[in-house]
Amino acid sequence: MDFTVDSATPAVQASFDATPAPRLRAILQSLTRHLHDFVREIEPTIPEWNNAIEFLTAVGKACTDTRQEFILLSDVLGVSMLVETINGQDAGTESTVLGPFHMTKSPARALGDSIDEVGGSRVCVVSGTVRSTSGRPLAGATVDVWQCDENGLYDVQVPDVQPAGNGRGLFTTDELGRYWFRTVAPSHYPIPTDGPVGALLNATGRHPYRPAHVHFIASAPAHEEVTTHAFVAGSPYIDSDAVFAVKKGLLVDFCEQPTPNWASVTASSPRSSTPPSTSNWRRLRHSCRPRPRRHDPGTQRLTDRVCLVIGVSGVVFSRSRLPPRTNHRARSLT
Ligand SMILES: [Fe+2]
Repeated sequence: MDFTVDSATPAVQASFDATPAPRLRAILQSLTRHLHDFVREIEPTIPEWNNAIEFLTAVGKACTDTRQEFILLSDVLGVSMLVETINGQDAGTESTVLGPFHMTKSPARALGDSIDEVGGSRVCVVSGTVRSTSGRPLAGATVDVWQCDENGLYDVQVPDVQPAGNGRGLFTTDELGRYWFRTVAPSHYPIPTDGPVGALLNATGRHPYRPAHVHFIASAPAHEEVTTHAFVAGSPYIDSDAVFAVKKGLLVDFCEQPTPNWASVTASSPRSSTPPSTSNWRRLRHSCRPRPRRHDPGTQRLTDRVCLVIGVSGVVFSRSRLPPRTNHRARSLT
């Protein structure tokens, strides 16, 4: 049968009929349907199609062990935040995007340690508790944190300036679910603009900035991992985050302490370190509440599923009834 504008979609969908895994089969057939609809609507020229292929190729080539241009593309198109929102918690701490800089393993650190290894001036003390959604402190939970420095740069962006692991730490809560560490107040920053995603923002007149924030992933036995941020209230770009990640519930005050009382801070940590040498420091209190893990993730949310597809020259969102995912954190297609 001739391949025509009208026969294309059923022909390609039928080619996936024998896919053994029902979830993978449903995703590919939905991808086919929405991608073909997109192409029929846009009617790209051959040069436009070539440009799209070259763009996606450039995105792939920009990825390295320490740079993830595809996550960046997903972020600026709002796909990351849409996926996070679909999979987000219906109780406990609000989740938000992972972002493109969780590229290296955070070094394990003791409570009270500093994640600032370059000696920044805007000292900040972060403390909080990991609790279940019922309020029970979670001992032995892990809190993975990462952030940029005072100049808005992550360690992986400037390896000649910052040692690997600077601005990162993996902490384990104490018997009362508490964690505590020292850092520097983060700055707002531009996402990387020297690659194809930067070119996309430039071509569309969009700015690349993100408001100041600290990233957190809280994990605890029998609980679902929660990926979130603490955004600095009042930061520039709080209303126009380039990756759409800000939520009102994640805005926090980084309170400046006019009269440091170091004892009141270290009292919550059995392993305190020496006080900051500056009298000008900030304090952030940020607690995380991961929700209990559900016994059978495969049976949850059996209604509408959302299939997100990065198409040849754009992104197609679709809502359709698909077989349930086996585990939404496993990102498995089988
Ligand atoms: Fe970030």
